[in-house]
Amino acid sequence: MDIDAILDRPKRLIPEPQALSKHGPARVISVVNQKGGVGKTTTTVSLGAALAEYGRRVLIVDFDPQGALSVALGLNPNELGLTIHNLLSDPHCDVHEVIKGTEQANLDLLPSNIDLAAAELQLVSEVGREHALARALEPVLPDYDIILIDCQPSLGLLTLNALSASSEVIVPLECEYFALRGVALLTETIDKVKGRLNPNLQIMGVVATMYDPRTLHSREVFARVIQAFGDLVFQTAIHRTVKFPDAAVAGQPIELFAPGSVGAEAYKALAREVLAR
Ligand SMILES: Nc1ncnc2c1ncn2[C@@H]1O[C@H](COP(=O)(O)OP(=O)(O)OP(=O)(O)O)[C@@H](O)[C@H]1O
Ligand SMILES: [Mg+2]
Repeated sequence: MDIDAILDRPKRLIPEPQALSKHGPARVISVVNQKGGVGKTTTTVSLGAALAEYGRRVLIVDFDPQGALSVALGLNPNELGLTIHNLLSDPHCDVHEVIKGTEQANLDLLPSNIDLAAAELQLVSEVGREHALARALEPVLPDYDIILIDCQPSLGLLTLNALSASSEVIVPLECEYFALRGVALLTETIDKVKGRLNPNLQIMGVVATMYDPRTLHSREVFARVIQAFGDLVFQTAIHRTVKFPDAAVAGQPIELFAPGSVGAEAYKALAREVLAR
């Protein structure tokens, strides 16, 4: 395998996003990989903030009972008030009352905490259990341009709900050993959801995360990802930098925590690609 030739693949020119004259209905995008710690939550918050900077109205959905996305935006998981749990378990709960604004203009959050695990158990015995999130989001589709759903590291019922509610999927892959392990199961699951639950679903793209071009290993994994997925792989790779965990600890998107940093610019470039796809 000629790694450098693969990594030097011809790049498309990505246009600057145009301002929108009207907003909505939202494109709903799930950020999915059942492998843990690959950058799903970081991608959801950073891409969401970058799209918001481009004037898009963005809702990010914390659909992981760990609540990491809510914490990454500086919220205390024990003091959230209403969460997605209420939305899924109480048919009278109004989604507008659950949505919270953030420090970043144009960026809203649907928060979660460990209560979502209980909601998942309740859902198991319900009719139409895979469509609960889609039903819950329906009233706010006209209000947003993009809705990003941060999934938990599993292909269980919550992730099926996210896929049923989405038209597109972004798959973050960490440029590390075994990055591609489990990806076949993920694409099979997406195909099954497309066949049985949601014919509109497609993979929008695969984003390489935690990329370190100084190591041969990282470049080799990135090249293998491109070999496997071709043009589905976003041109933008997200480099490994400590600014991401630092931003999460500070409770801010990297765009606010370290504006102009390599990481912030990378997610802006990714946002341009998403808007161009
Ligand atoms: N590009 C990056 N460079 C360095 N660290 C990163 C990068 N992206 C994410 N991280 C850090 O790696 C850890 C895992 O990232 P993240 O939480 O986004 O992954 P995840 O896929 O959502 O994990 P989980 O499967 O547990 O939900 C976090 O501490 C995060 O701050
Ligand atoms: Mg996560």
